[in-house]
Amino acid sequence: MGPPPRRRQLLLSLALLATAAACCAAGAAPRLSPNYYRRSCPRVERIVSDAVAAKQRANPSTAAGTLRLFFHDCFVNGCDASVLVSPLSSSGAAPERAAEINLSLPGDAFDAVARAKAALEAECPGVVSCADALALAARDLVAALGGPRFPVALGRRDSRRSDARDVEGNLPRTNMSARAMVRLFARKGLSPREMVALAGAHTVGFSHCAEFAPRIYGYRGASHDPRLNPEFARALQRSCAGYRTDPTVSIFNDIVTPRDFDETYYKNLPHGLGLLASDAAIWEYPPTRVFAQRYAANRTAFFEDFAAAMQRLGAVGVKTGRQGVVRRRCDALD
Ligand code: HEM
Ligand SMILES: *[C@@H]1O[C@H](CO)[C@@H](O)[C@H](O)[C@H]1NC(C)=O
Ligand SMILES: *[C@@H]1O[C@H](CO)[C@@H](O)[C@H](O)[C@H]1NC(C)=O
Ligand SMILES: *[C@@H]1O[C@H](CO)[C@@H](O)[C@H](O)[C@H]1NC(C)=O
Repeated sequence: MGPPPRRRQLLLSLALLATAAACCAAGAAPRLSPNYYRRSCPRVERIVSDAVAAKQRANPSTAAGTLRLFFHDCFVNGCDASVLVSPLSSSGAAPERAAEINLSLPGDAFDAVARAKAALEAECPGVVSCADALALAARDLVAALGGPRFPVALGRRDSRRSDARDVEGNLPRTNMSARAMVRLFARKGLSPREMVALAGAHTVGFSHCAEFAPRIYGYRGASHDPRLNPEFARALQRSCAGYRTDPTVSIFNDIVTPRDFDETYYKNLPHGLGLLASDAAIWEYPPTRVFAQRYAANRTAFFEDFAAAMQRLGAVGVKTGRQGVVRRRCDALD
């Protein structure tokens, strides 16, 4: 003998409420799924990959920029496309991107996502979030550079908030110690091993001279940061000589194989060829060095860990269900 039907129904909905609360409490695993758009937009993966492949062919710097964009999106208030909002489009507070001007987030990456979104809107209007489009674009472009391919769980919602003031404290800076970086990644739920695997993204792309200038000009009275290979340091000093008048001067993060997504980033570190102080810091600190050593010696180990870590990065702080919206335009909040 159970309770009468009405009461049973009430109990059932209470149970559902409890499940819902459990699922969406802060820190609980969000429900993303690779099949999220199976009915509503079955060709989503193909649409994004075609759009970003065309963009990458037209401008080969797109891939690294998009990977970095994805990282920054996920570390500031979760993977919710808040990084994509343009300062030109927003009437209210300065969006996240405005805080990043000195880091010059790359225009081609924004364009790659905009193109993917436009193609998605043409086929499945109002269905696929900008956050999912960015996650898929980053995955496709890593593979395009020769990196690992991995499944992307979908169902992220976009935020209606993008505020430059949210950036401070949520992104790693080149002057951080490895210990401080480990702490920051831990706050996002990522382990030291995942952090070192993700830092392998610096096997592609470039950095502006301003990001490492303190290492090569007037470093504590020395000619350069002693952790830098002396020949490399001199080459950097020459290449960056005019960076104050032309701040666009940039250097490949991995000078050995700049366009290949491979384990060379880690191989460079013991030779003083890590470009950023943060790269050198990862090598200096034993708890992170062990992983860098492993990846330097074993591309398979790097690719496996990078693929797994990217999937974990893609779940950081995601909004699902009613927590967010599907924005029609990725560069605007409405
Ligand atoms: C561990 C701490 C990290 C620090 C301190 C850091 C810092 C930086 C800095 C300063 C730049 C140069 C930006 C510029 O001058 O335009 C850069 C570039 C880049 N970063 Fe990181 N980063 C870190 C981790 C990551 C992670 C986890 C990823 C991705 C998973 C990533 C992906 C990239 C990529 C792909 C570029 C090249 C961008 C381009 O070519 O446009 N970084 N990073
Ligand atoms: C950018 O860099 C310049 C010079 O280093 C500095 O004066 C300015 O405050 C920085 N802007 C931001 C948004 O960080
Ligand atoms: C590290 O760099 C940031 C800007 O990127 C700056 O605000 C901060 O003061 C620096 N910290 C140290 C210890 O130099
Ligand atoms: C490289 O790493 C892979 C994956 O972790 C592992 O299966 C393999 O045994 C490693 N190879 C060597 C030579 O250590």
